[in-house]
Amino acid sequence: MRQSSLVVVANRLPLDDNAAPDGACEWRRSPGGLAGALQPILQQTPATWVGWAGGVGPAPRLPDIGSLRLRPVALSEDELRGYYEGFANSTLWPLYHDAVQQPVFQREWWETYRSVNRRFAETAAEVAGKHAAVWVQDYHLQLVPQMLRELRPDLLIGFFMHVPFPPPELYMQLPRRVELLNGLLGADLVGFQREQAAHNLAQLAQKLLGAEATDDEIITNDGRTVHAAAFPVSIDVTEMSALAARTDVVTHAKQLRADLGSPKRVLLSVDRLDYTKGIEHRLTAYSELLRDGHVKVRDTVMVQVAVPSRERVESYRDLKDRIEGEVGRINGEYGRVGEPAIHYLNQPFDRAQLAALYRTADVMVVTPLRDGMNLVAKEFVAAREDGAGALVLSEFAGAAAELPQAFLCNPHDLDDLKGTLLRAMEAEPGDLAGRMTAMREHLGRHDILAWARAYLTALDRSGRLARRLPH
Ligand code: ADP
Ligand code: F6P
Repeated sequence: MRQSSLVVVANRLPLDDNAAPDGACEWRRSPGGLAGALQPILQQTPATWVGWAGGVGPAPRLPDIGSLRLRPVALSEDELRGYYEGFANSTLWPLYHDAVQQPVFQREWWETYRSVNRRFAETAAEVAGKHAAVWVQDYHLQLVPQMLRELRPDLLIGFFMHVPFPPPELYMQLPRRVELLNGLLGADLVGFQREQAAHNLAQLAQKLLGAEATDDEIITNDGRTVHAAAFPVSIDVTEMSALAARTDVVTHAKQLRADLGSPKRVLLSVDRLDYTKGIEHRLTAYSELLRDGHVKVRDTVMVQVAVPSRERVESYRDLKDRIEGEVGRINGEYGRVGEPAIHYLNQPFDRAQLAALYRTADVMVVTPLRDGMNLVAKEFVAAREDGAGALVLSEFAGAAAELPQAFLCNPHDLDDLKGTLLRAMEAEPGDLAGRMTAMREHLGRHDILAWARAYLTALDRSGRLARRLPH
């Protein structure tokens, strides 16, 4: 067995097992921000990625991606239900997102979550070389750091939480809260999107474990120091800028606009179909703008891309039904023959198609109720090397802290949301260009490579790990 000195452990591998129409297996880029963010750097770094390949049953054999080795972890049907759909996405996900949807807890999910975390930890322990660094990702694997430390005390263990980490008032509702906290504190460094989350961790460690803690250091009961800090995740800015500037993408963007009926304004939203993304609030705001006559169907077109996600979880199925009902209602009421008010696309797109959509938009509407970061907002900015386009961004997305030049809004407040949409639609090109330049400058300095470098340097202060990254 070949071992690596850098191992990434994430629920998903960057490739997803997608059944092709003829029943054959087709591999495509995994949905969601985490895999999309990490793959561009890791495929140029000697490392192993441990994760689930998206199907059930025995683990498939997967080819390397560049210098990145993939090590699949098998999940059975029951494990998928208890670990991924259950504890991770019906208990932790809603709770960590401010309980915008009521968290559900079934006691039998806990054992499955624990045993699947153990399998990830054992697999990581197998593929990690002596004194290697293992970088564990996200809420699905919160017990892995502690399990791994027990199995392999020689390892350097990092953890990064891609989603928000809640304040004690919310976290305290969690069954198994002490075990989950201890799991996380098995890491040497816990990274978050926002500083507030590191503060929340310190408070919880004091309250639940009686640990000595400041916002950036926690002393565990066995005397180790766990560091905590914010490292806002980013995207491959160069890749998205270059893609959006490609002649075929620019031509496709023009064609899309023509296909939409060459309206004065195109509003675009691109989300996983998730209740945290605020799609229903956005549709209500848009419907009211149509009702009040602030927006006219012939002048303005809204495009809502909602990529299918977690479709077997009841709350996601219910959300899909509600959204599709509402889109139907709005189109029925305000659309005309050949001119729907909203174009709704419940399908995945490739990167070039997404880049063309971003270039077509006059207003990009990113209004989650709660979001760890939101990479779509960053992708839109990276795609607009033409300096045009407005970004409407929720204050509750991690990205808002980095992109204050966006049109920020509170999506829970319908009047604020409507007013912000109107301001963005009516903004002068000079104002938009100034905002876009500032946001692009920020992203130019804070891309995915800078994120990984900052995190790995903090994990291993000798700089040995960060030096493995591409330049
Ligand atoms: P999350 O991690 O919650 O899914 P992010 O906004 O951070 O949210 O990341 C979403 C990622 O999924 C982005 O990289 C985006 O480009 C991608 N994505 C969104 N919609 C689609 C789609 N319809 N097809 C393919 N990829 C998509
Ligand atoms: O960003 C949070 C996250 O859960 C990531 O871990 C993942 O990339 C994304 O959302 C998509 O979710 P899922 O892996 O459940 O499709």
